[in-house]
Amino acid sequence: DRPRPLVAGNWKMNGVKSSAKVLTEIHAGYTPGLKAKVELAVCPPATLVSLLSYASVGSRVAIGAQDCHAKESGAFTGDLSAEMLADAGATYVIVGHSERRQYHKERDVEVCAKAVAAHRAGLTAIVCVGETREERESGKTLSVVRKQLRGSIPVDSNSRNLVVAYEPVWAIGTGLTPTVADVAEVHALIRDELRRLVGKADAPKVRILYGGSVKPSNAAELMAVENVNGALVGGASLVAADFLAIAGAY
Ligand code: G3H
Repeated sequence: DRPRPLVAGNWKMNGVKSSAKVLTEIHAGYTPGLKAKVELAVCPPATLVSLLSYASVGSRVAIGAQDCHAKESGAFTGDLSAEMLADAGATYVIVGHSERRQYHKERDVEVCAKAVAAHRAGLTAIVCVGETREERESGKTLSVVRKQLRGSIPVDSNSRNLVVAYEPVWAIGTGLTPTVADVAEVHALIRDELRRLVGKADAPKVRILYGGSVKPSNAAELMAVENVNGALVGGASLVAADFLAIAGAY
């Protein structure tokens, strides 16, 4: 009854046109056997969404963006709307990544507005939540994640237009990962909250991804945890062989 897992690569601010070769390598390794088991998505910088979308036609690797503006258009210099990203070929957009929350001061209310925009444009929003090291050490993980979920997930969400990514901030890019028991605890909380947010029938179908230092060497252990329905991969998604090995952990 588990949903089809999703392994999404977040390239962050990495990649130029020649990086399309990474996608070509991913296509080559996305065998029918792997396709049957796991969905793949690559979220490059916005400058590459169009190029990689064209390159992905027929491959079934979805392309996503890393952020969007809440409005459809207007005087917002430098911003990109969800409609523009959809027009460029994206089908996913990450919203509320901890790097956006930290460096761009995005709060739950803005993250929620961005997820609404994603839905308006027909995109699936990958809504990110996760605690800082201080919050974990002071025992606030569950309350922090619960608050982020309630504030960041719009009411029009369902299992087709919403993916939740749990990324402990202290695990991102550090090589540190929570124990499987800690991952299981937070993912169970997220599943529980989803019952309130999208309803009891649809909640089991929402993909809940784990993110934070996922590598080929730890992917199998993390992906086997109950209520973990895939991964949001940063650094390791820049190398096709590593990304495919993580996907192959299913
Ligand atoms: O969105 C991806 C995450 O921030 C994880 O990044 O795999 O480099 O730790 P990482």
